[in-house]
Amino acid sequence: MTVHPVPAEWARRAYVDAAGQAEKYRRSLEEPEAFWREETARIDWIRPWTQLGRCSFDEADFGIEWFADGTLNVSANCLDRHLAEHGETTAIIWEGDDPSQQRRITYRELHEDVCRFANVLKGLGAKKGDRITLYLPMIPEAAVAMLACARIGAIHSVVFGGFSPEALAGRIQDCDSRLVITADGGMRGGKLVPLKANVDAAVAHCPSVEAVLVVRHAGNAVTMQGGRDRWWQDERAAVSPDCQPEEMGAEDPLFILYTSGSTGKPKGVLHTSGGYLTWAAMTHHYVFDYRPGDIYWCAADIGWVTGHSYVVYGPLANGATVVMFEGVPNYPDHSRFWQIVDRHQVNIFYGAPTALRALMREGDEWVKRTSRSSLRLLGSVGEPINPEAWEWYWRVVGDGRCPIVDTWWQTETGGAMITPLPGATDLKPGSASLPFFGVAPQLVDAEGTVLPDEPGVAAEGNLCITRSWPGQMRTVYGDHERFFQTYFSTYKGKYFTGDGCRRDEDGYYWITGRVDDVINVSGHRMGTAEIESALVAHAKVAEAAVVGFPHDIKGQGIYAYVTTNAEVEPDEALRRELVQWVRTEIGPIATPDAIHFAPALPKTRSGKIMRRILRKIAEGDVSSLGDTSTLADPSVVDTLIATRAG
Ligand code: WT7
Repeated sequence: MTVHPVPAEWARRAYVDAAGQAEKYRRSLEEPEAFWREETARIDWIRPWTQLGRCSFDEADFGIEWFADGTLNVSANCLDRHLAEHGETTAIIWEGDDPSQQRRITYRELHEDVCRFANVLKGLGAKKGDRITLYLPMIPEAAVAMLACARIGAIHSVVFGGFSPEALAGRIQDCDSRLVITADGGMRGGKLVPLKANVDAAVAHCPSVEAVLVVRHAGNAVTMQGGRDRWWQDERAAVSPDCQPEEMGAEDPLFILYTSGSTGKPKGVLHTSGGYLTWAAMTHHYVFDYRPGDIYWCAADIGWVTGHSYVVYGPLANGATVVMFEGVPNYPDHSRFWQIVDRHQVNIFYGAPTALRALMREGDEWVKRTSRSSLRLLGSVGEPINPEAWEWYWRVVGDGRCPIVDTWWQTETGGAMITPLPGATDLKPGSASLPFFGVAPQLVDAEGTVLPDEPGVAAEGNLCITRSWPGQMRTVYGDHERFFQTYFSTYKGKYFTGDGCRRDEDGYYWITGRVDDVINVSGHRMGTAEIESALVAHAKVAEAAVVGFPHDIKGQGIYAYVTTNAEVEPDEALRRELVQWVRTEIGPIATPDAIHFAPALPKTRSGKIMRRILRKIAEGDVSSLGDTSTLADPSVVDTLIATRAG
């Protein structure tokens, strides 16, 4: 197997080399008090913390708290403290979907906008602890709105702009938002996303919403409801540019972000202030080896946790210059990413394997016609990167010069957990490599028996984390019991990630994918139960079962088995109708790739659907279906094989 050793120059000048990594890792676990005292010094505290943490994953005294008696304000950390020396430094370089559109915003300008935005929110009655839902395109105002919430102590809940009005409404209702922030529209690949119209449709079912603040961006026509809707640009002029940041406890909530799990309803993952910001800033510093003056671009949308931690909070806390891109990788053509790299002289690029695979398919020429000489480091996130895509990223995009950091983490973890450090870790394509400081991974088998962790001995099992880390989520919003049940009840005393994982002889971790009913489609996490409940909500559908199957570009595709009601004759028209139905119920990211009309689903005698068999058939691997003798009616399987979709 190929190993790409740390380039000598990186080992020499990076923040940490291999020896430094090992030593810091040891200290993080053996001398946590001293270690975190140093690392939290990268944050400005209003009142310094004296209590490190009180963390237990056991049911009896379950709880997670870090730096609990410290106080701070997250927006002041991302803005105010940079003003004295770096006020004129560019904070955000924005590039629109249309390549002729660019904006540059300094830290001073960003600070003023955030203060004004915060004052507008206050004027609308928002206060500490309120939940505010954001449904925005990738524009600087998205960061402004997030930081304005943080400034006044309101909790933001960002909903990805690709979600449908139905999905948006569910998320507004779950956290009882009184305020929604949106834009007239967003642009993606030359097409308008009618955000305001979607909000109108959603809010019709949300009695809690009193006001909608609208950013004028795409210029499309929208209906403004008197008494409820206001333009940000009008309000902006009418408020003061000064706004004192609210003093927040380290454990006060910063944001909620909804994510799919193995049950139908998305969970509101809640992150707090002190520990989260420390983790976001610290991982951004070490993983990307961020230096003042670097131009840094994370291509994720702010609707996902990657956008929270690595477009907004981590980099801005570190005073970085961040590129923010509204569009998509293939518009106007397949060179777009690399044109942006050249135009803004990007040094660090962080993106998703799915985009790389899609671009790889179009051929090297689109990449090669750009210079990319400014690039120094590349990152990957969101799903396993297959070694072929890794090597292409390395050889074609990075010209064989740029280390690749393949970062494994989750919405729940707040920031990178298993990741190479560019000056320290020899790279194995496809492996997220080693645990970050403070992270204690453990592999267990299905029964929870810990697999031996010894040098030279490989193991494969379910990935758990045995100790808390500052960036860890604190609860499921409104349902603390569900938090415990979901993550800490499968294996007693451990956080269970839901991922399968192999550790090789050198101690490198290789994530093998989800072991629960969650699938990863183009780096987006989807609960199969969520898609199933959307399907069965259709009047003609009696039953549905959704599984993932390997997909060349998306990583995993969505394969839906559907049993229609008795009087319905399934046909092509119904297939199209159901695909459209799921798009409207959840959003385009949940579009099924295949719908397989099935007269019946394979079930055990107790009525449980045998998903293992459904996965095999969807994968087209019917040679090893395993034991089907426990099925109530084994002939169902033959029918499914004979009628496989796609
Ligand atoms: C799931 C989390 C990481 C933030 C964005 C996605 C998968 C994530 C990797 C990686 C292999 C990865 C896991 C994880 N995943 N990064 N580098 N290698 N798998 O956050 O939506 O919460 O999804 O994404 O399966 O559990 P998310």
